[in-house]
Amino acid sequence: MVFFLGIDTSCDETSAAVVSAKREILSNVVSSQADMHARYGGVVPELASRAHVERIAPVTEEALRRAGLRLRDLGGLAVTAGPGLVGALLVGLNFAKGLAVRNALLLVAVHHIRAHVESVFLAHGDSIPLPALSLVVSGGHTSLHMIEESKKRHTYRKIGATLDDAAGEAFDKAAKLMGLGYPGGPVIEALARGGDPKAVTLPPHPNIHSRGRVNYDFSFSGLKSALARFVRNRGIPPAASPEEAFGREDLRGIAASFQEAAFSALIWTTRRAAKRLRPASLCVSGGVSVNARLAERFFALGAELGLPVFFPPKELTTDNGAMVAWCGILDQKKPLTHTETLALNAHAGWEF
Ligand code: KG4
Ligand code: ZN
Repeated sequence: MVFFLGIDTSCDETSAAVVSAKREILSNVVSSQADMHARYGGVVPELASRAHVERIAPVTEEALRRAGLRLRDLGGLAVTAGPGLVGALLVGLNFAKGLAVRNALLLVAVHHIRAHVESVFLAHGDSIPLPALSLVVSGGHTSLHMIEESKKRHTYRKIGATLDDAAGEAFDKAAKLMGLGYPGGPVIEALARGGDPKAVTLPPHPNIHSRGRVNYDFSFSGLKSALARFVRNRGIPPAASPEEAFGREDLRGIAASFQEAAFSALIWTTRRAAKRLRPASLCVSGGVSVNARLAERFFALGAELGLPVFFPPKELTTDNGAMVAWCGILDQKKPLTHTETLALNAHAGWEF
């Protein structure tokens, strides 16, 4: 049996995991730095890099320990090489290079967004009918891809992406505006549960840049500006703390309205793409895909279109090493020489 160790240090989670070629997740250790960045209202790249340096070795050891394996039992290593914060990426990449060269292991460089896409397949495998329309909604990215199969391998065709903010970034900015701290997604979801989604009228859908041309792009900066305007015009003060927000009807209404508008934008564009491109299934992944209301809306869309809908389980939604290890297994091929391994570089803006 082939086992891969996957490492991800692309943003503010230090993660290492062991996955088998049979799609078993033997371990998936994630050390989140969210608390550390919270006091600054967002990720501070230099602090993220330093925390990765401190955590990468213990997190990797823990992943191997939980899996009950040693390095020599591995078929190879996989590491996220981009996109992400370049300093953060370099920590994982250099650590993985060292392990690979020292232990004569195959090293595979993985694209982070592809890893999110494949997290759904790691969880559900062959039960996902292809072609699949895949939406990745994370803190740094929002994109739509058509996934097809050629010679038993997935091919990915990017059909749309955000023109400005990512969906998760919009949640983080909206939360900051309301005094809810970082990361914004989980607090907004909880606040929205008791709020009136019609409390604030926000731009109905974001496809403002289409100029008559059919596209499947997203835009969230208008939504954020509309929210900022509303808060300013009404003189609504931010919450003194996330806890205080739960006693405030106005903030509950704003959270619910914002969440509904953001998800309507995702649904609207996905529906348009599905109607034209006729996929056999819908897949949703990335940090925002943990949101229960998003799942509800996507399952409703699936029912409307007659398509099955697939999400990863919670532990595979936010950044994690398991999805990276799985991409390593998908990509294992002729081993690189030491020189080639050492020449691998991080790409902060790697396109997918
Ligand atoms: O995929 P991820 O862990 O990191 C990136 O690759 O960017 O996504 C993190 C993003 C953050 O913006 C966070 O606010 C958002 O996912 N998020 C949520 C929820 N939980 C996390 N967004 C909406 N609802 C949630 N429950
Ligand atoms: Zn991510």
